[in-house]
Amino acid sequence: RTLHCHGTLASTNELAFRLAHEGAEHGEVVVAEQQTAGKGRRGRVWVSPPGLNLYFSAILRPELPPQHAPELTLVAAVALAETLRETGAEAAIKWPNDVQIDGRKVAGILTEMSAEPERVHFVVLGIGVNLNARREHFPEELRELATSLSLELGRPVPRASFAAALWLRLEEWLGRHQEKGFGPVRQRWKELSCTLGQDVLVRTARLEFRGMAEDVDESGALLVRTPGGSIERVLAGDVEQLR
Ligand code: BTN
Repeated sequence: RTLHCHGTLASTNELAFRLAHEGAEHGEVVVAEQQTAGKGRRGRVWVSPPGLNLYFSAILRPELPPQHAPELTLVAAVALAETLRETGAEAAIKWPNDVQIDGRKVAGILTEMSAEPERVHFVVLGIGVNLNARREHFPEELRELATSLSLELGRPVPRASFAAALWLRLEEWLGRHQEKGFGPVRQRWKELSCTLGQDVLVRTARLEFRGMAEDVDESGALLVRTPGGSIERVLAGDVEQLR
């Protein structure tokens, strides 16, 4: 299996996308020591200091109709949360795919895809994990919101073995998803979630509202009961957990 290891990249997702475009195979992985333009969801920047953290992008060529491709992000969230729990951390998934420890974000997932209406060409699964970053690596405005695995565990976390464990979990869950569909992924996602049962503030591209996060449906959308009693189905957006 091909592992593309780099020192400095703009973004591992960007290189993985280009390699996939040029014909790279299912399962090829790109990692970098640092990123100069790490991409987060919704046009945000992913803080990517050198040497400490994991910046990982896997090229997938799934046999899935394009409308099911978003499920892969939840597959990745489950694999990631399980890998973090294996180290002893109490990781949980905040919808749609942030992974948190103790209410602070430790990892994020950015899925990008190239598809036609009928066929997925490829998916790039980008995963960033704050493994050994210290407080001072996060910009001021993120210090309360972000953490790293080593800050939480109080010990350094070896990157290579974490990456290997993550890839094993990913393969396991990708296989299960391919074979059995989204059902088992959804169930495990729910067990690992810290969003369900919470009062949330939902922000989508169009609107903002409050409600109670009740469930994720069979396509991974969040179902939120509004104070008026209606159920809103949120396919894309952000949630803030209210206390
Ligand atoms: C998010 O939570 O906003 C998603 C963050 C995804 C970051 C990872 S780091 C590896 C890969 N390359 C990127 O440029 N982004 C993803």
